[in-house]
Amino acid sequence: MTERIVLAYSGGLDTSVAIGWIGEATGAEVIAVAVDVGQGGESLEDIRQRALACGAVEAYVADARDEFANEYAMPTLKANALYQGHYPLVSAISRPVIVKHLVKAAREFGATTVAHGCTGKGNDQVRFEVGIQTLGPDLKCIAPVRDLALTRDKAIAFAEAKGLPIETTKKNPYSIDQNVWGRAVETGYLEDIWNAPTKDIYDYTATPEFPPAPDEVVISFHQGVPVAIDGVKVSPLQAIQELNRRAGAQGVGRIDVVEDRLVGIKSREIYEAPGAMALITAHKHLEDITIEREQARFKASVSQRWAELVYDGQWFSPLKRSLDAFIEDTQKYVSGDIRMTMHGGQAIVNGRRSDTSLYDFDLATYDTGDTFDQSQAKGFIELWGMSSKVASTRDQRASGK
Ligand code: ARG
Repeated sequence: MTERIVLAYSGGLDTSVAIGWIGEATGAEVIAVAVDVGQGGESLEDIRQRALACGAVEAYVADARDEFANEYAMPTLKANALYQGHYPLVSAISRPVIVKHLVKAAREFGATTVAHGCTGKGNDQVRFEVGIQTLGPDLKCIAPVRDLALTRDKAIAFAEAKGLPIETTKKNPYSIDQNVWGRAVETGYLEDIWNAPTKDIYDYTATPEFPPAPDEVVISFHQGVPVAIDGVKVSPLQAIQELNRRAGAQGVGRIDVVEDRLVGIKSREIYEAPGAMALITAHKHLEDITIEREQARFKASVSQRWAELVYDGQWFSPLKRSLDAFIEDTQKYVSGDIRMTMHGGQAIVNGRRSDTSLYDFDLATYDTGDTFDQSQAKGFIELWGMSSKVASTRDQRASGK
């Protein structure tokens, strides 16, 4: 029987060419797998038709938007995960959901190998292949750009020679990856890290310098997950979409960073994640009133580690799973409403309320009637500073002063 390979297929030039390229190089039959994670653009049906026209023997398409929002974006929100303090893991969390579908398709169609369009320089090759190794240890991986010398120029020549139904003339100077959680733009003019991004780079956000009137929003959460916006019930996907629209119109969520790739290269990225950043901001502020101090402090370090693991392609790893259990436990009381004004590139929280809040007005108030017994503070401070005081006395004695 002819060997079969499933290919992560976007519908673009490179992966369209990869169908025939892989076929010629390996003699295998190629099955195209397209997964909708909210990247917009063409319909799945158009993508399926193109895959078949480019020589795929089968095309598997999946609308994974809710799955992605529920099982990938929401854990990222619960973690307030920002790699290196900035990047909400847009591409990093889409790879594992695509991997799930690739492995599922490989089983359905009897494939032995999974192919993807990544280069040998980035993080995504690692995320795809580590994920595939974990979910399908018997499956092999191949990347035509990296392993079969499929360069851009060769791709264009191949598409033209074979008359593939794909645009070869439009040259996008940037490498773009997008989904409902955000958008990543790199390469080209941006590789000079002194160059400011030009306007044409952005798609999810409007220029924050000329914002429309301020937009005040109330986001309601239940156990860490957004459940209503301005009182209207929403699914996680709808919450992200609605805030992409409204926060995006205010220019919220633009990020310009040089980040540390797993492969040891520093790279410049422009991200736009209006919905994600608005949600993370609101969620964090709700945690501030509902999570106990020590748990909150510890969670911050867990979140950082979680973000690093996910960035590094360890979505399906045991440690990531254990950290998920901790994070999930912290979300038990993260329910309530956050009011936030979005304007001129910023989302600023200005009100919060929760039935499970730890904020105690009677303890906090400086007005008469507070229930906090200030006389207790004196003794507490004496003991709290004791060990430093003892050490300092020793230091002074030792230095002969
Ligand atoms: N550097 C980001 C990451 O590794 C984004 C990569 C997205 N890919 C792209 N072609 N722009 O998560």
